[in-house]
Amino acid sequence: MNLTGKKIILAVTGSIAAYKTPQLVRLLVKSGAEVRVVTTDAAEKFVSPLSLATVAKHPVYSNISDGAMWNNHVALGRWADLLLIAPCSANTLAKLANGLCDNLVCAVYLSAICPVFVAPAMDEDMWHHPSTKKNITEIVSFGNRIIPVAHGELASGIVGEGRMAEPENIIAHLEHYFFSENDQPLKGKKVLVTAGPTYERIDPVRFIGNFSTGKMGIAIAETLAEKGAEVTLIIGPTHLSVSNNHIKTIHVESAREMYHACIDAFPDTTLAILSSAVADYRPKEMASEKIKKASDTFDISLVRNPDILESLGKMKTESQTLVGFALETNNELENAQKKMIAKNTDYIVLNSLRDEGAGFGGDTNKITILDRDGTNHSLPLQSKTAAAAAIINHILKMQNA
Ligand code: CTP
Repeated sequence: MNLTGKKIILAVTGSIAAYKTPQLVRLLVKSGAEVRVVTTDAAEKFVSPLSLATVAKHPVYSNISDGAMWNNHVALGRWADLLLIAPCSANTLAKLANGLCDNLVCAVYLSAICPVFVAPAMDEDMWHHPSTKKNITEIVSFGNRIIPVAHGELASGIVGEGRMAEPENIIAHLEHYFFSENDQPLKGKKVLVTAGPTYERIDPVRFIGNFSTGKMGIAIAETLAEKGAEVTLIIGPTHLSVSNNHIKTIHVESAREMYHACIDAFPDTTLAILSSAVADYRPKEMASEKIKKASDTFDISLVRNPDILESLGKMKTESQTLVGFALETNNELENAQKKMIAKNTDYIVLNSLRDEGAGFGGDTNKITILDRDGTNHSLPLQSKTAAAAAIINHILKMQNA
């Protein structure tokens, strides 16, 4: 995988992370890309245009006009196969979200007809500010892609989220994009993914839930979308956002809401992967007012929730593939195999809570894929994105075998 022959515009904005951009340009060039660099005035306080021009082997553009020369942003925007805005400051992000055009970077962005990748960089508190979140959601809805920020030490000295992804990581995103552009075995196929926890209300302020964040399911949905599928993602409460506008996301809260959304969506799909951590029980009754403490103990009576996977297993036709997850703490393979039979799935993806690095919330997972005939494939600890790709590639390989 490389970027041979790809025309890439790197737009650099005012963030301390701009000091990493000569290395980023060097890696782009090394990967075979032809690079043009556009900067804002603020960017040039952090990185010298001379360094960037030297590694890009081309002068840097920073103004709409340089002396008597008009820098044709429309031509630049049309020249590129991809526009990468890295680092993207909070200020530029707000401009992109609102269509402002007071510098060359914004003008190129508005003129670009190619895919746009944005690698944000800012301090943790800025990154978590509601306006930043809103702006990210806004630019994702325009079809732009976000290269996730990293966790680590920030310019303020705070350790947290907001660092620009490392140049090697940014290159990996771009290479993966160009590679998967030609690798769309699921083009036009409708697929369903569930993700995240469910919350079962006890009263207006309390619920029964679990520690699932939806990260694994989002990775699956994004991988399927990259392979061309039309994805419906039904997701329980989570603070994570989905960075691919080819995914139709339906937000639900409770197991019953998730059940109804799945029953509606499933008949049209050829593949369904249910990775959500659904609450098996809900309070028999939800109190309409906040429950006041009275005695030393308090019992909640629970009733069973519908089993979504089992219901889809009953509805499943010959042409549909159904994949379930199994989260186990003991007798893992045996329990997972039983779930596959009981719920009539074609595959089960097994997570064991005994494996370090597997489970809720983290960035990694260690999975075993069980086939219907009992064969199991144990995979090493890897990122959730890599685990998602492994699951989907396995299903595709089996279908083509
Ligand atoms: N699942 C579901 N609906 C439920 C419970 C689980 O669709 N009410 C799905 C999950 O999304 C997962 C699979 O069933 O794909 C297995 O979930 P898991 O929590 O491992 O097992 P359970 O079926 O709930 O069984 P148990 O809790 O007894 O292990």
